[in-house]
Order: sequence, then structure tokens, then C-alpha cells
Amino acid sequence: MKIDHIGIATKGIDDALKFWADALGLENVHTEVVEDQKVRVAMLPIGESRIELLEPTSNDSPISKFLEKRGGGIHHIAVEVEDIRAALTNLKEKGMRLIDETPRLGAEGCLVAFVHPSSANGVLLELVQSIKT
Ligand code: CO
Repeated sequence: MKIDHIGIATKGIDDALKFWADALGLENVHTEVVEDQKVRVAMLPIGESRIELLEPTSNDSPISKFLEKRGGGIHHIAVEVEDIRAALTNLKEKGMRLIDETPRLGAEGCLVAFVHPSSANGVLLELVQSIKT
């Protein structure tokens, strides 16, 4: 397993890029809107992982709610798994609380599913299965 990306909630990606790209020196290689999650995302590779900047596309986006409560910051950590359905079944069998019982379509055509923070020490954990592998 590896950390696929770290999701960071921002009020605006363009503004956030002034730090992550212009100042820190990461490159924004991919931007897209993920309709299902009502977010626009920017992906910035860092080593074998990525920083995922998230910006809400609507007021009822999960990111809007997070920004209201906390004003930005680390929103989730994403772990790459080989078989997301097997990973979900395994966690459920072990009594872990899932937000998504079945995978959804994420950025870059990946399959994603979220594990509830109450089962992961307050961390919102995203499982990612890359389509490429
Ligand atoms: Co993510």
C-alpha cells in the first residue's frame, strides 16, 4: 500500500496554487471537476504521492461544510489499494464504519470509497483503486 494523495480543502484552488505551486515548487499536472463529490480538484505530484487540492463547486458540497467548520486544512488521506471491493469487505467484517459501502467514481477515473473518521482515529480515510493498475 502507499499514500496515494493527501486531500486539502481550500476556498479556491487558484489562490492555493500560489503556495503549493508558485512558492513551494510543486507542479499542477491535472485539474478536473468531480461531479459526484461536487468538487474541483488539482493534483500535484510529490514523490510517489500527490497533494490533492479541493475546492467546492456548490454550497452543499462536503468541502463547503468542512470549510465552514474549520476554514480549510487537511480533509482526508487517501490510501491506494489493489482491490477496493475486497478492502471494503475486509473492513466491514472487522466492524469498521464505512461512509461508502460500494465504490464511487473519483478523479482520473479511479474507484474511491471513504471510511468514516470514527473508525480511523478522527481521520477521514479514502481508499483508491487506480484503473491503470
Ligand atoms: Co481524495
